[in-house]
Amino acid sequence: MDVRRRSVLTAAGAAGAVGAAGVLGSAGTASAAALGASHGHRDPNSLRELAEKVGLRIGTAIIPQDINTPAWAAVAASQFSVVTPGNEMKWQVVEPTQGVFDWSGADNLVAFAKANDQLIRGHTFCWHNQLPNFLTTGVANGSINQTQLLDLLEAHIFTEAGRYRGKIWQWDVCNEFLTDSNPSGVNPNDFWIKNAGPDVIERAFRWAHQADPHALLFYNDYNIGGEDGSNAKFQAAFNLAQGLLEKGVPIHGIGIQGHLDTQFGWSPQRLSDDIGKYASLGLKVAITEADARTFVNNPTDQVPTNGLENFAQPFEMDEMLKASLAHPELISFTVWGFTDADSWVPGFFTGEGFATIYDVNLNPKQAYLSMQSTLKLAALGAPHRVRTRTPHP
Ligand code: G3I
Repeated sequence: MDVRRRSVLTAAGAAGAVGAAGVLGSAGTASAAALGASHGHRDPNSLRELAEKVGLRIGTAIIPQDINTPAWAAVAASQFSVVTPGNEMKWQVVEPTQGVFDWSGADNLVAFAKANDQLIRGHTFCWHNQLPNFLTTGVANGSINQTQLLDLLEAHIFTEAGRYRGKIWQWDVCNEFLTDSNPSGVNPNDFWIKNAGPDVIERAFRWAHQADPHALLFYNDYNIGGEDGSNAKFQAAFNLAQGLLEKGVPIHGIGIQGHLDTQFGWSPQRLSDDIGKYASLGLKVAITEADARTFVNNPTDQVPTNGLENFAQPFEMDEMLKASLAHPELISFTVWGFTDADSWVPGFFTGEGFATIYDVNLNPKQAYLSMQSTLKLAALGAPHRVRTRTPHP
């Protein structure tokens, strides 16, 4: 795709990890229930509590370490009100071998979310990536034909959406079907389009709706919110959604991934305009995978090589949030992993990192502080000015 680790962690500087030590003890695995019980009184300055005042859900992608490492789990629980499995609901993970299912990671996440009063963004049914080998091999060697592929997709959606029916707030039904070209459109060479046919997108949405009628169903993609100079991919996403709506397909929202890179141009104003245009279709909008990467010294420490990036990175994260806050139809803002230590970026973009809102030692970064300050302003408003004497004419 063209969307342009680990270290010793301390909870000491983790904003909002208030009371974590008391609940979690000094070692061992955090119990989801224990974490949940700890949140009778939440930190009013946490991202989730501030955002809640304007009805916005602040989220993060979750990987197993976030749940199994006490200091991380404390932050995941205290700061976020919606969680997305980074990988644990993808087809490759839940059905690695045909007919053999592994729901352990997904179930864990669902339990964690429940214990911590969090909603869940399900991710994702229909994507060209992270598919099980039996599927890609079968298609490649011709043992799975188009009809069989559609049957398998239908079964996958009904199985997974059915298992979590009533527990998922938003599902990313289809992910990354659009080309990066100008003009952009549905990619004819996408695995699903090529092998299952062009109507696979609408089929997937209809199946997901039948399987879990209460879930909000999203189309999710990158570079569709102010990122690309021509805005060609935004237009393609808009056209796709409009076409689906005209056919009566149950699509309820657009997920703007929001993977930014400080070396490229990006327009917060255009993001805001794009959100407004999606909303004009009657759709909800979500920022689903926000991060802003930059060049760093090495993948372990992730210190920006240019001091100015300490300003550019939080600026981009905060401006994404501000554009989001301007639109009531924008219902959730999710960061794609909250610490640089578990970000996907260093593994995918050589030399880059520093993309999230906590550093590799779980200390909140300026991006966190900027977002917190913006949320405070949104939630509480600016105080009225103190009275002063005014000069008499
Ligand atoms: O689980 C295996 C492990 O057993 C093995 O030892 C290890 C060796 O590399 O790989 C592990 O799998 C990795 C998996 O993440 C879980 O950590 C894969 O190699 C790695 O490719 C995979 O990356 C994920 C990526 O999607 C795949 O494209 C990232 O974690 C995940 O954050 C990322 O998320 C995507 C969204 O789903 C869609 N939008 C873009 C976003 C970023 O690429």
